[in-house]
Amino acid sequence: MIYHCMMEFIDTHTHLYDEQFRDDAEAAVERAVDAGVTRMIFPDIDSSTRDAMNSLAAKYPGNIFPCLGLHPTSVDSRWKEALEEISEAADKAGNIRAIGETGMDCYWSKEFVREQEEAFEWQVRLACRLGLPVIIHSREATELIIGVLERCRQLAPRGVFHAFTGSRETFERISRLGDWYVGIGGVVTFKKASIAETIKHIPLERILLETDSPYLTPVPHRGERNESSYLPYIAGKIAEQKGISIEEVALQTTENAVRLFQI
Ligand code: NI
Repeated sequence: MIYHCMMEFIDTHTHLYDEQFRDDAEAAVERAVDAGVTRMIFPDIDSSTRDAMNSLAAKYPGNIFPCLGLHPTSVDSRWKEALEEISEAADKAGNIRAIGETGMDCYWSKEFVREQEEAFEWQVRLACRLGLPVIIHSREATELIIGVLERCRQLAPRGVFHAFTGSRETFERISRLGDWYVGIGGVVTFKKASIAETIKHIPLERILLETDSPYLTPVPHRGERNESSYLPYIAGKIAEQKGISIEEVALQTTENAVRLFQI
């Protein structure tokens, strides 16, 4: 047996199959693994990116775990068809680890807000039926999201509020909904970001690490394309804010992700 003390991280939200990685997606996966980011969750967007996601995931079965979902900003007039496709794909795919990303985004556009809400609730119910966690994208939609989760309460949905930048009070409301985690990403490294203070009051047992690559790049790479190999910068900042070691952050957040996604 080979012992090594390299830290292990899980990027619970990364889109390395995005157009921006057209020329070097495989190299980006390898850079992540070399940096200790040995496992990555690929949230789905919609049918236009699903094949790229699944084919990259298939090349690294022990490292990449794909999901299935309709992103709130992809909800448009053909949303019912899109959900039908998800329903069919869910029956066939044996390897998906979560439903998502789903949720609501009232910042991007309010045009399909009612459809977003219905599509979100449909996906929460699907996840419960399949026994899978939900990856939630919530932007300027906290009340609507919590309303849906309360309506589904008896089904005991669980999962993660991805890219969480809310207040301590919002975190406490989320905690009362059941078995929920918050995904912390590059924003925590930004100057003056309130989440850097809030994180001190969020137990490590409820935190997942994520990059949201290619977006939300952490300092010191802010302004560049984000990639999963930068995840340790986020862990380092959380450790600094909480006054604990990065090893402790790596260990606990990895355990959290393994538990939630069963990977
Ligand atoms: Ni995302």
